[in-house]
Amino acid sequence: MNANVENKIEQLRNKIREYDYNYYVLAESKISDFEYDKIYKELQKLEEENPHLITPESPTQRVGSDLTKEFLTVTHKTPMLSLANSYDEQELLDFDKRIKNILDVTHDIEYVAELKIDGVSISITYENGKLKNAATRGDGFTGEEVTNNIKTIKSVPLRINSKHKNLPSHLEVRGEVFMEIEEFKKFNKQREEEDLKTFVNPRNSTAGTLKLQDPKVVAKRPLDIFTYYLLSEEDISSTQENNLKKLKELGFKVNNNFNLCKNINEVINYCKTWDTKRANLPYETDGVVIKVNDIKLQQKLGNVAKSPRWAIAFKFAAQQMTTKLLSITWQVGRTGAVTPVAELEPVFLAGSTISRATLHNKDEILRKDIRVGDTVIIEKGGDVIPKITGVVLEKREKGSKPSQIPIHCPVCDEELFYSEEEVAIYCINNLCPAQIKGSIEHFASRGAMDIEGLGESIVNQFVDLGLLKSYVDIYSLFQKREDLINIERFGEKSVINLLNAIEKSKDKPFEKILFALGIRYVGTGVAKKLANHFEKIENLINATPDEIEAVPEIGPRIAESVKKFFNIPKNLENITQLKSSGLKFEIENKSDRNVIFKNVTFVLTGTLSKFTRDEAKNIIEENGGKVTSSISSKTDFVLVGENAGSKLEKAKKLNVKTIDENEFKKMLGNQ
Ligand code: IVH
Repeated sequence: MNANVENKIEQLRNKIREYDYNYYVLAESKISDFEYDKIYKELQKLEEENPHLITPESPTQRVGSDLTKEFLTVTHKTPMLSLANSYDEQELLDFDKRIKNILDVTHDIEYVAELKIDGVSISITYENGKLKNAATRGDGFTGEEVTNNIKTIKSVPLRINSKHKNLPSHLEVRGEVFMEIEEFKKFNKQREEEDLKTFVNPRNSTAGTLKLQDPKVVAKRPLDIFTYYLLSEEDISSTQENNLKKLKELGFKVNNNFNLCKNINEVINYCKTWDTKRANLPYETDGVVIKVNDIKLQQKLGNVAKSPRWAIAFKFAAQQMTTKLLSITWQVGRTGAVTPVAELEPVFLAGSTISRATLHNKDEILRKDIRVGDTVIIEKGGDVIPKITGVVLEKREKGSKPSQIPIHCPVCDEELFYSEEEVAIYCINNLCPAQIKGSIEHFASRGAMDIEGLGESIVNQFVDLGLLKSYVDIYSLFQKREDLINIERFGEKSVINLLNAIEKSKDKPFEKILFALGIRYVGTGVAKKLANHFEKIENLINATPDEIEAVPEIGPRIAESVKKFFNIPKNLENITQLKSSGLKFEIENKSDRNVIFKNVTFVLTGTLSKFTRDEAKNIIEENGGKVTSSISSKTDFVLVGENAGSKLEKAKKLNVKTIDENEFKKMLGNQ
């Protein structure tokens, strides 16, 4: 009996290992999430009933429950070296020349060129095929043990498949842990909505995550790994190319963009190609790592100080440009925050023309002494928003003066509020037209009440004409029909369309309305959580901060902000008025609704032209459907936009129905 259970458990584990490998390493899913969960739960149940059979390599043991109290120091058997950097073609030619000199050869040297993944390097050791421990690089000689955290990464095998016979008993695998850019953005957005500090880039986010003490939290974050180095006391492979192939064979995830180059010129071409192509990669890379292919030659070349002589990093230049700072606009947002924006002489940089850049806050301007008229350096990093990284002082015009930080609101002239705790400056006049305009615009925006025709310029015009004093007035605009028709260039048809769109917005669900109110720190995700938890506005208004904080993933700052909002009598008055206009301040019973995408699962891919991704997602969800990020046999439709890549291929492979935007619109009918 016991042997039977043991066999069954091992069978289930092997199945899960194979599915994990297919999904997380090869990015191909062979079974539905449902089937996977079923097998996983079956294994969990058997292990619960037979705890003596649990082994650390079981797939159920990826997320341990123990907190790491302190990170132990690990000494690397072979130091984890760093690389010398190179920045241009000449430096690569010099590197090649140096190698030929040391080896005393004149023939071409073969190199492997790999992408330099911008993450955190990790060493993972295996003993008798089982994951033993994992450590960060640290200072190269000693690092921190982060085994529990690394085990949560599903593309890291906990056990090397036993079909690989004659494996050396001790193996070390090195690689780079990273986060995909989209996953990082999603994760950061979620943090922002939950009022947590956001990370500046995927690398920082990865490093921060690896330092967490609770593997359960780590498991929820989108960590991944590319391995690039297999070490053992026995000779496993004679070349770096074989080393990478061997890693793949053993079940590790390897970045497939590496290339075997016959000589340094091929390496230079590889660097040039990827300098542009990297813009389309789903992860960040900051350069290329070039390694002598032949391992015997590597050994001959040896190391200098902390870097090997046989390898070098080629660093991509940050995409930079200089241009003139024409002026600084101080923008007043809907929350009253006054932020500086640089108005620039337009320049083309990394695929788009840039005429504005963020200056973040007053301290940034003062610290960098950025002045109007200066020639400034702008950079486009991983972020889409360009930033000013410095000033070309030699080009500064004579007589230029330091930038003045405003004391009065640039819109309503009220004195600004300088907080001691924050670098932001605030206009605290609730009647400031900029705030009124901003809050109405937000209310009507796509993610909120989605009132077509009530965009920035119309809102500005209506506020300036005194037709709107707050978002509440939107619902009495129909009484001002004649005034609207008389507005120059507006016309009857636009008025009818606008009034229809306003009418239609009354059907928006509670969570959208809650978001539309513009409560500080209440983004779409938080609004959804609050709406689902409290079900109607009265419950939320009457909730104590503790009760609000009791909602999973809602922090004290959100709770305080929500309370503050409802403590303002004017806001309560607005809600009463919006209610009498017919807005729904409570959740609907979803099952009663007649929805067209009930239980239908979509995957979106490529660039959509008729909707943004968020809009398409909203439409699907509002109609009872679900949007997931990866295609499986459970996916009902793949909505395909332009330049769709691997997902489209995968859909075809799995026989999942693909539709374009027109077909999607047809499905919606007149929804
Ligand atoms: S090889 C001696 N290969 O770049 C060999 N490193 O400064 C050194 N990195 O610490 C590592 N991608 O964190 C290598 N394909 C790759 C890499 C890579 C990223 C990182 C690694 C290392 C740093 C080198």
